[in-house]
Amino acid sequence: MPDEKPTLDHEHLPMKLGTEFISTFYRLLKGTTLYDRKSVVIDRLSQECLQVVNGIIQWEGNLLLKIVRDRFFFNNTRIIASPEKYLIFKAFWQEMRKRRIGGIEFSEAVSGEHLTDLACLLSGLEENNESNYLSVKEQLEHRRIESIEVGKLEFSKDEDISVDSEDQKKYSKEVYFRSIGLVKEVVESIHQQKTLPIRKAKRLMQNAVNAVMQDDSTLLGLANIKNYDEYTFNHSVNVAIYAMALGQRIGIPKKQLSHLGMAGLFHDMGKTKIPEEILNKTEKLSAEECSVMRSHPVVGTELIMGMKEWGELSARMMEGAFEHHLRYDLTGYPRLTQKKKITLFGRIVATADFYDALVRPRVHHRFPYVSEKIVGIMLERSGKDLDPAIVKVFINMIGVFPVGTLALLNTNEMGIVTQVQEDTELIDRPKVCLIYYSDGEYRKGKMVDLIEADEVSGDFKRSIVKTLDPNEYNINVAEFLI
Ligand SMILES: [Fe+2]
Ligand SMILES: [Fe+2]
Repeated sequence: MPDEKPTLDHEHLPMKLGTEFISTFYRLLKGTTLYDRKSVVIDRLSQECLQVVNGIIQWEGNLLLKIVRDRFFFNNTRIIASPEKYLIFKAFWQEMRKRRIGGIEFSEAVSGEHLTDLACLLSGLEENNESNYLSVKEQLEHRRIESIEVGKLEFSKDEDISVDSEDQKKYSKEVYFRSIGLVKEVVESIHQQKTLPIRKAKRLMQNAVNAVMQDDSTLLGLANIKNYDEYTFNHSVNVAIYAMALGQRIGIPKKQLSHLGMAGLFHDMGKTKIPEEILNKTEKLSAEECSVMRSHPVVGTELIMGMKEWGELSARMMEGAFEHHLRYDLTGYPRLTQKKKITLFGRIVATADFYDALVRPRVHHRFPYVSEKIVGIMLERSGKDLDPAIVKVFINMIGVFPVGTLALLNTNEMGIVTQVQEDTELIDRPKVCLIYYSDGEYRKGKMVDLIEADEVSGDFKRSIVKTLDPNEYNINVAEFLI
């Protein structure tokens, strides 16, 4: 359904219409894999998509969506996903790519029946079959549907087209724990005044960028686990992951994403020079101790300045280190003598740093906030301490119930959030791995999608009632994520 009336802005119109088509058609396509085509759910999804399709045809004369490699073209204009629609574009792209379909065209207004036919035909296709488009064509002809055409997906031969999701998860896990090891190595090198393993860090962040681009769920889940022992090491890696995952959503190019990862990884390096007694002090810091603590952005920047040979990279790393405690309204620390705008990398790292500090219990905050509260706190700080545009993307990315959250459902089942919904309108309905108790421990049950609705009533089958603390139930969340 169109969100707002179409504007006459020629730059944005294809983007808006294309996004509406992709969102509603993806929902319908997904629906046909879950429900019977005669169900009320399919009927509703089909009507929603139909309005968009016929509206576009009325406005533009036709509707042609083409996918060329990982790019989308709507009526021959390239369209790029907005951060909120990033996941839905990606999910739609994966569905189409799996089926080797690279184009859909409507030449005139269609009926709801024909639109549902198309979605069912597409969802029933086998994976990786190059001639899929031919069988859809045949079926459409057979049903005398002349106004719809589909095309083949073009991709270059050397493209790695199918990635095993289990392998992907293992790879993400490896990247995460290797990064923790690396942060330890960096900290030791600083203490022993040895040269920092920058080349190694850079390579690792390039691997992390690949993992984030393929599937960031596992990495975001690992970052969100609250019961690690060593706060400092995990914190640096988590900030790097949040920053990169956010960066890809706002369209930062690949090379710079790894720089952003480095800026995240090294943002608190100045803390290695702060005495342990101050770092770990549980009581309130004295004014003097507080100013020592607050020197870490400057100390960190000085450490990075010693790595001049890294040129642009060290400039980006300095932004993370120097600016991560500066607030959006330029208060915070270090005190600026000249007010200048905080850089994009600085604002991203500051948001990631703020979030990670909120979710994790540590010396100064014994109890972590529950996820429902965190979104509220972030929004409260938005515009004052944090960049509102970045906060918005960040919340969409993390969801109300982040990956790794233990939740109680209205069915009295317990589950762990494994994936945030592609569709930001359904941000409170993630995908969940059910868990059950048997033989003295919690075990993995089936995967359920909280957008699943009852075929007759159309009501959601399961909803989250509240979140639970995994420590209280002795549940190691990581085991259920990987
Ligand atoms: Fe810091
Ligand atoms: Fe930090």
